[in-house]
Amino acid sequence: MSEPPVGPVGRAFAVDAVGRAVRVRGWVQRSRSSGGILFLHVRDRTGTVQVTGKRDVLGAAAFDAAEHVQVEGVVEVEGTVADDPRAPGGRELRARAVKVIDAGLPFPIFQEQTEEFRLDKRHLVIRSDDHVATFRVKAELLRALRQFLDDEEVLEVTPPILTGNPAEGGAEAFTIDYFGRPGYLSQSAQLYLEAMIAPHERVYALTPSFRAEKSRTPRHLTEYQHLEVELAWTDLDELMTFVERMVASVAHAVAERRPSELRQLGRKPEELTVLAPPFPRLSYAAAIERLAQQGFPVAWGSDLGTAEERALTLESAVPLFVTRFPRELKAFYMRRSPDDPRTVEAADLLAPEGYGEMVGASCRETNLEFLEERVRQIGANPEEYEWYFDLRRHGNVPHAGFGLGVERILRWMLRREHIRETTPFPRTPSRHTP
Ligand code: 4AD
Ligand code: MG
Repeated sequence: MSEPPVGPVGRAFAVDAVGRAVRVRGWVQRSRSSGGILFLHVRDRTGTVQVTGKRDVLGAAAFDAAEHVQVEGVVEVEGTVADDPRAPGGRELRARAVKVIDAGLPFPIFQEQTEEFRLDKRHLVIRSDDHVATFRVKAELLRALRQFLDDEEVLEVTPPILTGNPAEGGAEAFTIDYFGRPGYLSQSAQLYLEAMIAPHERVYALTPSFRAEKSRTPRHLTEYQHLEVELAWTDLDELMTFVERMVASVAHAVAERRPSELRQLGRKPEELTVLAPPFPRLSYAAAIERLAQQGFPVAWGSDLGTAEERALTLESAVPLFVTRFPRELKAFYMRRSPDDPRTVEAADLLAPEGYGEMVGASCRETNLEFLEERVRQIGANPEEYEWYFDLRRHGNVPHAGFGLGVERILRWMLRREHIRETTPFPRTPSRHTP
């Protein structure tokens, strides 16, 4: 009899597979043996199957070898699919042969270990069911973002990560020694995207951004995935409309394509499909008033920190735009509001349920004088921004853009307590390994 080809475990559960000879291979999640019968739960990317093997069928030597396979060891199993109401999923694979590919050493991960230990062993911990679900949802989120942008005729471009000037003005930039000259790891691709709108008008980039933020908070990483969009001929209202359509569209895509992963992580898919544009908008001034009424010690000019952002959407199932911030709180490149020079044309999108900022959006300052003045005010070196100022000298048009923190939006979608659970190898002030 010829060997059946290796197929995914998921197929062993297929309705028509009972009685069929199959071959699967994967990682052992669980193993026990009693009375000459071995039970293995074997996992591959498509699912987990219960395998049963009898000593008298497999042969003593093969049975003994299979019995010694550790959790996360690897086997290849050939056998027949059978109905078995006691097996998870109601089906099992009755083995005719079990080949050990890697018996493995005892797996060092258990439930009760400390968070620090689990972070040290992150390279192994990411095999957990929760992490598997998380990174499948993340892949869907990235796919849906790209799909939306492609449908909107926004061109994907590839800005640099190594830069000679910090995009967000210098504070919190990782500095590097670039062959004896100062260099920075990109905090944002924005300035390069602004350069690329002259020929392309609508561009985006999905790149890692780096923030040397020492603050240990549940929503800050030092390296994160940053989706940034820059659109020519766009004002703040149009920009917010674009952002809310995009966020609703990817929320729906994730809910439709990864419902079981969402449920596993404690999120009902219906809680994502309720998102429909337009999202409510609240001016910064009104937000401050609301917070003051709730007892926060804030006044016009106060920054909205974690606690303040949390309070603004804690009771809300939909995101909220906060608009028109005081100029001093925001980046140098933001456009002065035409009707109020104290504020800028900016909007932060706060996630529902108190999860805080997930998108930062603004119109860009096109007035070169204002721009140079702001660079000096923040204490940055105008020479480093000469190339950026050139953009205001050659084909200067109204434009706007935004940055979306992929892990920030995912943290909300998956209700994760800490943002590090949304990235396989989190980078935080205390950790850049494994
Ligand atoms: O608000 P930010 O700093 O804006 C910019 O960098 C703009 N230049 C973007 C643009 O307009 N092209 O960052 C944008 C988003 C935030 O809203 C947040 O979601 C995320 O990036 N973000 C972080 N995510 C994880 N860890 C951090 N330390 C983050 N800092 C910002
Ligand atoms: Mg921001």
